[in-house]
Amino acid sequence: MIEILHAQGVKINLATATASPPPWLARLHPESLPVTAAGVKLWPGSRQQYCPHSTAYRQRAAALVERLAERYRDHPALVMWHINNEYACHVAECFCDESAAAFRAWLQQRYGSVEALNEAWGTAFWSQRYADWDDINPPRSAPTFINPTQQLDWRRFSSDSLLECFAIERTILKRVTPDVPITTNFMGFFKPLDYWAWAASEDVVAHDCYPDPRDPAAIVGAAMSYDLMRSLRGGQPWILMEQVTSQVQWRPRNPLKRPGQMRLLSYQAVSRGADGVMFFQWRGSLAGAEKFHGAMLPHGGTDTRVWREVVELGGELARLAVLRDTRVPAEVAILFDWHSWWALELECRPSSDITMLRQLQDYYDVLFRRNIAVDFVPPGGDLSGYRAVLVPNLYLADEELAASLERFVSSGGTLVMSPLSGIADARDHIYPGSYPAPFRKLLGLKIAEFDPYPLDHTNHISTADGARFETYLWSDLIELEGALAIAGCESDFYAGRPAITRHAFGAGQSYYLGTCLGPDGMAWLLDRALSEAGILPPLAAPEGVEIGRRTDGVQHYTFALNHNDYAVEVGLPAPARDLLSEQIHTETLALGAFGAAILVGADGE
Ligand code: GLA
Repeated sequence: MIEILHAQGVKINLATATASPPPWLARLHPESLPVTAAGVKLWPGSRQQYCPHSTAYRQRAAALVERLAERYRDHPALVMWHINNEYACHVAECFCDESAAAFRAWLQQRYGSVEALNEAWGTAFWSQRYADWDDINPPRSAPTFINPTQQLDWRRFSSDSLLECFAIERTILKRVTPDVPITTNFMGFFKPLDYWAWAASEDVVAHDCYPDPRDPAAIVGAAMSYDLMRSLRGGQPWILMEQVTSQVQWRPRNPLKRPGQMRLLSYQAVSRGADGVMFFQWRGSLAGAEKFHGAMLPHGGTDTRVWREVVELGGELARLAVLRDTRVPAEVAILFDWHSWWALELECRPSSDITMLRQLQDYYDVLFRRNIAVDFVPPGGDLSGYRAVLVPNLYLADEELAASLERFVSSGGTLVMSPLSGIADARDHIYPGSYPAPFRKLLGLKIAEFDPYPLDHTNHISTADGARFETYLWSDLIELEGALAIAGCESDFYAGRPAITRHAFGAGQSYYLGTCLGPDGMAWLLDRALSEAGILPPLAAPEGVEIGRRTDGVQHYTFALNHNDYAVEVGLPAPARDLLSEQIHTETLALGAFGAAILVGADGE
């Protein structure tokens, strides 16, 4: 296979084949099979049936990788290694005895003594105090709510464990083929793995993305995941390693991408920083669980619409070398933290409706509809290049993080923060005093109580400039400590109390949103904050047209992507050349249904 591809000039990103152990491993080493929290063993017959802590699995995987690397080390077609595949997509954690021993070792590293662990986990509560390391187990099925810090540490440990598996392979590959870059395929906002930690040990970020082509919200989710992929290594171009040409087979119903939509969605990734566009799978398989999954070469062969669209896209991409290594400029950052995500969504919270992705999407939707570029930044990341920082949720926070946000705002930045931020420290211990303790100074307020709503309940807020919006899920009972109310709650016993605040802090300002708003309310708030920060979209566009931009520092490339299934016209501020059609457009750009253009000069420069 490798020789056939090489002969045709195809370069290879070779996967290490450790993601689906053969059934004989389970026969020889039944202890290598993963076990669920309830003690159920997962057997061969599908894929990914390995315990990440299994010595047998790790040894055999390492041996396989060593052989593969030795065999292909000098092959001219080998351009990249793809380690394993979609880590944790089916099995993110294992609760077996070998895993329990590994968890204890991880905890010993973290805490040093059982006493320190008891303190961090708050085990005095419910008589959970541990006398010995050997008494500590994974959060296996238990009568009721399991210790929250034990669960949080388990999540950290499980992400670290798979990263250790990745590192075992990486070390071998870097020794045998030091010049071949390394990646593994991520899955966007994937809760089990802290991709900030993972991306640091890769050379290139790669991503798999399968938006439902008939779901209008899916393009927003895809865009958000692309922005995360670009951000994971500080703006470095990434690879869309997997998408599908036509349809997947794993949803209950699997609609086709319409003519042109596969090309359009590929350019959506390119516009958000991808320097590579690839597909799963090459040839449609005839047997197995994925035989109805789309492919570049479908069951119908080369005389098919899908094949023709693939060939056309390949031809176009080959002419876009000018975009390689260009960057996506962004003036807005969203702070995003896996540890807060894990902790926020544990059981026994004030409301199970306050979830990380929901909070995030409320913000992202507005930015997407306004075509405003955004980067994601981890807590402690460099904020100096941004004008606005959005914090949909940071449940876990510390003084250091608060200080970095204070520096950002006091030196002229604009910040917007949402509920349940700054509640607990890294051990998930609540800060005493009023919420949100580390951010009170920055926000100029305190919150003594919060009121989660029943799902069918709404309240209203009225803004100082006369607008009125419905609120959902949550109200903070805010007391001002320097901030000004820019919207107040309309009903309930806290009617008249501030619902949204603005605090002038140094040369900048911080907004706090003490409730959840619908799209119109979020747009009102973010329009106000972003215009105060001086942030404008790159180009005005009709509904359903996505505008993106890449730049090499001198030349800008403006992407116009029509997600509508009808033609539209985009007004141009200056004549521009479309890299895809090679046409010059003067006053307007006409885009057909699912049409795409990459304009040079549209910004008038
Ligand atoms: C994932 C996997 C592939 C394949 C596709 C199907 O991305 O990595 O092996 O199963 O899903 O959509």
